[in-house]
Amino acid sequence: MPRSILVAVAWPYVNGPPHLGHIAGMNVPADIFVRYHRLAGNDAIMVSGSDMHGTPTALRAADEGVAPSVVAERYHAVWSKCLSDMGFSYDIYTHTDTENHREVTQDLFLRLAEGGYLYESGQTMPYSVTEGRYLSDRFVEGTCPHCGNDGARGDQCDGCGRTLDPSDLLNIRSKRDGSTPEFRDTVHQFFRLSAFQDALERWVSAREDWRVGVRMQTLSWLREGLRDRAITRDIDWGVPVPLPGYEDKRIYVWFEAVIGYLSATKEWARRQGEPDAWERFWLDPDGETYYFQGKDNIPFHTLIWPAMLMGYGGLNLPTDVAANEYLNFRGREFSKSRNWAVWLPDYLERYEADPLRYFLASSMPETSDTDFTWEGFVAANNNELVATFGNFVHRVLTITYRNFGGTVPEPGELAEVDRAALAACDTALSDVSAAIEARRFRDGLRAAMSLAQHGNRYVDQKAPWSEVKRDRGSAGTTLWTALNLVSTLRTVMHPFVPLASERIHEMLGAGGSVVEGGWARQEVAAHARLQPSRPLFRKLDESVVEEEYARLEGSAARSV
Ligand code: MF3
Ligand code: ZN
Repeated sequence: MPRSILVAVAWPYVNGPPHLGHIAGMNVPADIFVRYHRLAGNDAIMVSGSDMHGTPTALRAADEGVAPSVVAERYHAVWSKCLSDMGFSYDIYTHTDTENHREVTQDLFLRLAEGGYLYESGQTMPYSVTEGRYLSDRFVEGTCPHCGNDGARGDQCDGCGRTLDPSDLLNIRSKRDGSTPEFRDTVHQFFRLSAFQDALERWVSAREDWRVGVRMQTLSWLREGLRDRAITRDIDWGVPVPLPGYEDKRIYVWFEAVIGYLSATKEWARRQGEPDAWERFWLDPDGETYYFQGKDNIPFHTLIWPAMLMGYGGLNLPTDVAANEYLNFRGREFSKSRNWAVWLPDYLERYEADPLRYFLASSMPETSDTDFTWEGFVAANNNELVATFGNFVHRVLTITYRNFGGTVPEPGELAEVDRAALAACDTALSDVSAAIEARRFRDGLRAAMSLAQHGNRYVDQKAPWSEVKRDRGSAGTTLWTALNLVSTLRTVMHPFVPLASERIHEMLGAGGSVVEGGWARQEVAAHARLQPSRPLFRKLDESVVEEEYARLEGSAARSV
């Protein structure tokens, strides 16, 4: 029975183009996971979209003097193109400014209201006298009352990871002009998060297969006790509140963006022409849902969203929240404002998607922060992708093509060493599968690459280029065996570097798609026609490192 697997990727704010820090922790692992599951024959879909609302976008629009939708649509288009150019295989990548999302959000909101999980209460919110409007979430900063971090935002402190309300901040000031806001009384809808304390405690305690960091952090927030949270705001960019008297307010962005996972699945189902298809992921108790995101998103996915789902009733809770730590850039956090970043549109203009996918998978910040450097990128490309994986595939295909008339040779009797090479294929298939199932993606990639290493050792040892001059039959056996390793590499490397995998598939002369072959060893057929080999990857000159750093300094200088 195929499993129903929903891969839910965090919804990026669209206030600028994506940089490597954005995609390292969410898109790369999610795409590896969903591609693996499709190969394994499961019913797996990946959904997400752009988080159109929210303060970062409103801020940028205010700076540009345009409507928030203008900024949101502009960067939604940029994100969509980059994600597709990276080979991230979304079944749907939508956004939150759709009729469908508004409907699903308002339905969930009203159902929680009916269940008694929402109530109205007065709140004092920071109001900017200089700008004549309420300042919410990220418009304000101040000192975190818990850890003393002075850069805490109105919704969250990056110092200790706690979620905050603006009124928690000490020494509060406007991020727009530094002025001190005054607190004015307003009325909002509150979500009774406290009502879910016990249920969440029981649920989280039982999630023993979650990453230790995610589970521990979640349990520690639970120990502090959950507080009810205001889920409406005095703003005009967002999903309207379906209650009389709330015409000038909108639903809080965090409350509605997480609903995107559900609304996007429904939108996908409708686009498929099977409007009920969303149910097998959300209603069927066997449906599995996996969430991928950066660590700053954890409480929204392990506490608030599950509480919303519990309150709604009948919808599946997350199977896992595979949050990652951060990818830094040369030891410092990526920063848009300081222009300390590698922007994806720039990267894609100059390089291919696979080497970056490879680098990001091999240094994924699964358990601690990791670092992107151009030195590291060039080294991974040249010493691993080109020298190990690409080289093995290219030399096997080239020697075979030249010596056996462009067809797969017929194997003779297999010796121990040949059988060991074939056994390595089965080992790789099961090791990579086990690692990806457990959301350990670096280990998965390592296991896949060890098959290429085995292949290189095997070919070095058998030296088919000279063997063919002495004994054509036994060289045929060697190359047939090596081609079987190439065939399995196409499969086990597919989740990580799908474009290279597709190219191997073509060069092996196979029809159909890689996915149809499934997660299994596909024996190459003697006499099958091969395509002439072209190298899978391009070696990068060391000068790339200097060039890229110079480009960075140039643009940093320009932006000052
Ligand atoms: N837009 C948020 C961010 O970039 C993430 C939203 S994830 C969602 O941090 F689940 F809420 F959509
Ligand atoms: Zn703090």
